[in-house]
Amino acid sequence: MVTGAMVTGAMVTGGMGTGGTRAVARCAALALPPFSDSAEGLTRTYLSPAYHAAQEQLAAWMADVGMTVRRDAAANLIGRYEGRAAGAPALVIGSHIDSVRNAGAYDGPLGILLGIEAVAALSSGRVRMPFAVEVYAFGDEEGSRFPAAMLTSRAVAGTLDPAALDVRDRDGVALGDLLDLATYPSAARTAGDIIAYLEAHIEQGPVLEAAGLALGTVTGIAAQLRFEIGLTGTAGHAGTTAMDLRRDAVTGMAEMVLAAEAVATAGPVDLVATVGVVEVPAGAANVIAGRSRFTLDVRAGDAAVRDRAADAILRRFREIAGRRDLGMSVRQVHDLPASPCDPALMDLLDAATAEAGHKPFRLVSGAGHDAMIMAALCPTAMLFLRCRGGVSHNPAEHVEPADAEAALEAISCFIRQLGAQREPA
Ligand code: GLV
Ligand code: MN
Ligand code: MN
Repeated sequence: MVTGAMVTGAMVTGGMGTGGTRAVARCAALALPPFSDSAEGLTRTYLSPAYHAAQEQLAAWMADVGMTVRRDAAANLIGRYEGRAAGAPALVIGSHIDSVRNAGAYDGPLGILLGIEAVAALSSGRVRMPFAVEVYAFGDEEGSRFPAAMLTSRAVAGTLDPAALDVRDRDGVALGDLLDLATYPSAARTAGDIIAYLEAHIEQGPVLEAAGLALGTVTGIAAQLRFEIGLTGTAGHAGTTAMDLRRDAVTGMAEMVLAAEAVATAGPVDLVATVGVVEVPAGAANVIAGRSRFTLDVRAGDAAVRDRAADAILRRFREIAGRRDLGMSVRQVHDLPASPCDPALMDLLDAATAEAGHKPFRLVSGAGHDAMIMAALCPTAMLFLRCRGGVSHNPAEHVEPADAEAALEAISCFIRQLGAQREPA
């Protein structure tokens, strides 16, 4: 257990707010050391010390509300609240506990904390459903440590290619140094075990705020491609090498970044391309870079649109590398198809939102979520919460506690209505 840093519900809420407010406060508490690897802002990468500390804290909160808690071979944390019959198939509520670097507090943890609060509401009323409720805290949604993403939900969904586990972080630490890769796929669940997956998440965009609504039902998640690009030129003296004699891996990278932007800007509005990491290994002010590397993330609602854009971008990259006489390597890090949410669960979530006193509203997700992976295993649903200014992947991320209360009420109504549907006739 975490020592000297355990955050109790009473400490966080001062014994006052209800579940949604407590969930928000707990997310804020989890944004600080020891739950962050950095004293300046929140960074919590897969399997880091902060990751383990946050899991221990979550485990304590899960146990507090009557869940049995376990960690699977992919280092997901799972709390289970039994249904009326022990061992019944489960409704899974989940999201991720890892973060991007310099993250906001709510992207991921809020969905886990709201799941725990939904179980708290059941257990305090001694309510047992015709199904179990499990809360999953997934580990590698963001891909902020290893050149991969969603490894742990892929393990659960049973779609993980074991070759994807052969990854090292920026410091050269292999995933296999931290976990037993031979048992990793045993985190898989079977379809008959899970009746549905529900993920609550901040919208990470401005649509709900603009509509003046707290909640939205997600219709589907955009398709994603992610690449790592490496460029090789010739390292040289910044003072003595004439401009026309250079093979500069930084200027080549800069031209490629702008080419990616130009291709995406010329496409439909939901087509987006992002270079989020640029690196110059051994870079120095007086050295022409001999090597550079960067990431490329391309997304669109339609996988064909995404693929055409990625092809066009990579063609431009090859043309630039050829003209500048640079070597270029391209590694595809992941390919996630667009993931529609389940129509019947969308209807149920709309009905639950209405029962909770809010206007149902539907929207698509440009951000990726573990839900898109879980869709291979079971029907999925996502509930979006309004976040201030649509800001996310930024420490300024903000959720109003009242909106989290609304989400918790909608989740509770969803559980109740799903239960009513599954009662024996
Ligand atoms: C996760 O936040 C993603 O959309 O990349
Ligand atoms: Mn994120
Ligand atoms: Mn997220």
